[in-house]
Amino acid sequence: MSTAAIVPAAGSGVRLGADRPKALVLLAGEPLVVHALRALRDSEVVDRVVIAGPPDRLDELSAALPSAWSGWAQVIAGGAVRQASVAAGLESLSGDHELVLVHDAARALVPPAVVIRVVDALLAGAPAVIPVLPVSDTVKRVRDARVLETVDRTSLYAVQTPQGFRRDVLAEAHATTTESEATDDAGLVERAGGEVCVVDGAAEAFKITGPLDLALAEAVLSSRRH
Ligand code: CTP
Ligand code: MG
Repeated sequence: MSTAAIVPAAGSGVRLGADRPKALVLLAGEPLVVHALRALRDSEVVDRVVIAGPPDRLDELSAALPSAWSGWAQVIAGGAVRQASVAAGLESLSGDHELVLVHDAARALVPPAVVIRVVDALLAGAPAVIPVLPVSDTVKRVRDARVLETVDRTSLYAVQTPQGFRRDVLAEAHATTTESEATDDAGLVERAGGEVCVVDGAAEAFKITGPLDLALAEAVLSSRRH
């Protein structure tokens, strides 16, 4: 079965506060999105990738990709919200791919092993798969600056990407949703009544959101080099 990946990379990175869109922010000298793509490439289970970039920075994004990836990676214009970027990626895919991964450019350091776990679960028959990590903090429900309750965290998991789907399942979820700003794609499948399976995520697949995350990512890369 052929697997394509969509990489939403069109966000502006307001919380990171850099001088350019987040996917183009440099980490160890390379844009975040290049790191994310390398993880997909190194997994050797992704046959093609579509990057939904900031519409006004597509040339810059294309120029940042290694020329060896030219037949593998394609840059398209993303949308105003993440979901629109994923939808644009879905529309641009050829009919060849039965499986589709959606991977945030912002999860630049996902270990290839996580990508492989997701695809293996799809190949084993799961219609939708997400990598997760158990929540380690104590979690409380709060309203008006007062604690309402401590939530039992034993069944709570934090969700990462890449999320993997049978292509028909993802296309159907996107086509039938009435929401416009879902933060993940599996959520659309859930609300359409579909089954979503989980595999183990990894701490290194954290999302680079704020400046502290960028410092952590630099540290992870430097520890990988030593
Ligand atoms: N994304 C996208 N298109 C958008 C908004 C977000 O493709 N219109 C992508 C981002 O580029 C990122 C992923 O969705 O890879 C997760 O979004 P997030 O971490 O929130 O990134 P930003 O939206 O760029 O950051 P912020 O919310 O701080 O502005
Ligand atoms: Mg955002």
